[in-house]
Amino acid sequence: MKVIGGPSSQLLASRVASALGCELAVCEFKRFPDHEMYIRIMDDIGPEAVIVQSTATDSDYVALLQLIDACSTAARVHVVIPYMGYARQDKVFNRGEALSARAMARTIEAENVITVNIHETSVLDHFQCNTVNIDAAPLMGQYIRDMDHFHDPVLLAPDAGAKGLAASAAEELGIDCDHLEKKRLSGDTVRVAPKNLDVKDRDVVILDDIVSTGGTMAEAVRMLREQGAADVYVACIHPVLAGNAILKLCSSGVADVISTDTIEKAVSRVSVAPLLAKTINEL
Ligand code: R5P
Repeated sequence: MKVIGGPSSQLLASRVASALGCELAVCEFKRFPDHEMYIRIMDDIGPEAVIVQSTATDSDYVALLQLIDACSTAARVHVVIPYMGYARQDKVFNRGEALSARAMARTIEAENVITVNIHETSVLDHFQCNTVNIDAAPLMGQYIRDMDHFHDPVLLAPDAGAKGLAASAAEELGIDCDHLEKKRLSGDTVRVAPKNLDVKDRDVVILDDIVSTGGTMAEAVRMLREQGAADVYVACIHPVLAGNAILKLCSSGVADVISTDTIEKAVSRVSVAPLLAKTINEL
């Protein structure tokens, strides 16, 4: 089996190859003068290929489609999309809109597709092959558990929608878990606070699947600090971190930002490679 790393997931692909004990193919990525993308897999592909490529941008999708095509000689091709972009548009909200997640999924030809904490699992139904979606929250929980300087920590989901994710990480941690809720204090005053717990003098980790603009998290950090929380950490599976998200988070007073390497950023300290390797071995 050969592991093929796409341009957006080169480090993760190399970690997956090491975890599997497989060779990592060297690929060439460049642009033609008109800016079209050129991709070439320099090594022999062999009978079975695993392509690892997150699709946070349109270019990442184009790269993935070309890599799949370049692997046409392999009898078995597995596609790992650690972060699948466009998966948040999983419904048609207004007449005439594209169901973006479906549009993307339909283009992927493979024997198996593996995703990590895909935003909506219903998106998996749009792939025309077997799919596996893995949960990296326990890995994040283990990493947080090993940061041993926490004072009476609590794990929070930023909203009810992320409760399951936080609970999955908290199980590893054996610590309190709650979610933030909007509480209306008066006609025009709304307070965002944990539904059940008091965070005063406690360290807090807020965990979400995606941090995109950082707006949701920056607001949560600010509110929790106003409510007397000690250090507030932001953790996520997918660090999209668009535009000035890091600046926004840092100016909100966050103690640190931690994520996995489904998208390769400076904050990507928890690798999903062991989980991916285990899943690939079980295919
Ligand atoms: C939304 O459904 C996701 O789970 C995140 O809460 C959202 O993407 C965060 O967005 P932002 O960082 O732009 O506030």
